[in-house]
Amino acid sequence: MGLKREWKNSVATLLGAFALYLPNGVLEPSIPAENPLTAEKVALGKKLYFDKRLSADGTVSCASCHDPLHGFSDGKAVATGIRGQAGARNSPTVLYAGFSEVQFWDGRAPTLEEQAKQPLINPVEMGQPSHDAVVKAVASIADYPPLFQKAFGSPEVTIDRIVQAIASFERTLAPFSSPFDRFLAGDKNALSDAAKRGFQLFQGKARCVTCHEFNRSFPYFTDNKFHNIGVAMKGNFEQLAREAQAIQARGDKEAESTLAHKPGIEALGRWIVTREPKDIGAFKTPGLRNVALTAPYMHDGSLKTLEEVMDFYNRGGEPNPNLDGGMRPLNLTKEEIADIIEFMKSLTDESGGKNFDWEELKELSRKTRAGELVAAPAP
Ligand code: HEC
Ligand code: HEC
Repeated sequence: MGLKREWKNSVATLLGAFALYLPNGVLEPSIPAENPLTAEKVALGKKLYFDKRLSADGTVSCASCHDPLHGFSDGKAVATGIRGQAGARNSPTVLYAGFSEVQFWDGRAPTLEEQAKQPLINPVEMGQPSHDAVVKAVASIADYPPLFQKAFGSPEVTIDRIVQAIASFERTLAPFSSPFDRFLAGDKNALSDAAKRGFQLFQGKARCVTCHEFNRSFPYFTDNKFHNIGVAMKGNFEQLAREAQAIQARGDKEAESTLAHKPGIEALGRWIVTREPKDIGAFKTPGLRNVALTAPYMHDGSLKTLEEVMDFYNRGGEPNPNLDGGMRPLNLTKEEIADIIEFMKSLTDESGGKNFDWEELKELSRKTRAGELVAAPAP
């Protein structure tokens, strides 16, 4: 899985190393060797994550779309950025994002650090004209240089340091104390009978595990791969691919880099990254922990409830020329569907567990929304 294990030794020798709690047997996440996890970076990253002044007009922070009050998503079908502009895709949760092999629905960013650079300069998200503009904005706020000093050893603000701190904070957003976790740890009564039946169906008749893979060392319910299950099948993939290829042929790099934000064309999914026909309409299998908190669902937010998601799967997804071979009608009964939903609900953990204090972050979100704060208080 490309997991980097050497980081652990290197952080152990650093002051302020942040010990991420993981249940027994769960693999360490991949953390870039140049960005070891420390308490100082996590604290700085938290402040930056909630700070609206990182956006062009001071109205939008990372937390606006990845909000602790909405399971670190936003409760909307598609994201809304500065000046109320609508994006093309649904905001995924950032919980457990540190455990994903690639970021975004189409996997176009390899790390959390690279990912965080994009929303800052996406015109329909935080809208900054350049990364230099972000650096200027942050450096001009008196609170920050001392915090960069603590986290990085000098007060200099750079875009790489900004995203390293934000990524470090995000890596702590990993709760492991859901009823399902207690069940895995041996508490047989942690799950209702319905949820237990649902877990069996999830792995058996309903075939969910073929893509939402589960194992004890990587318990996130994703295979980190891309599949076309038909959600994107609204228009004509061939027509969309021709439009995208025309943009590519013009050599217009700027237009090309925004294909994933263009309503319509975004439906091409993983194809935008690989240009391989097999990836047309394919999206990353999302993990399912805390999924009950992050409606609406799918890359376009087109399914409103877990019941709608189950109807979609029960009929075999949406037929299209690229439909994944793993998709077929399931013939699940109403009771079986209810059991699978009960199982998904057992993956909810709104405490934050040992890695972060979810209640505290909710409070920060309420206060920044009410205008009482622009950012998390300095640590
Ligand atoms: C205007 C809303 C908005 C803002 C602001 C925003 N995001 Fe996102 N975020 C999204 C959307 C929409 C996606 C999915 C886009 C895609 O896949 O093409 C996303 C994807 C992500 C992902 C990938 C998660 C995954 O499962 O693949 C991470 C991590 C993330 N954002 C973190 C951040 C951080 C950090 C910030 C602040 C620097 C931020 N976001 C600001 C809307 C937003
Ligand atoms: C062939 C692979 C595959 C199978 C089988 C599969 N899924 Fe998915 N699942 C995906 C992909 C890919 C997405 C995202 C698709 C998109 O947005 O276009 C997804 C999305 C979801 C979502 C939405 C999550 C979110 O955050 O938006 C839920 C819930 C879900 N699946 C549950 C299930 C359940 C329950 C089953 C079994 C009945 C199942 N899946 C079977 C691949 C699969």
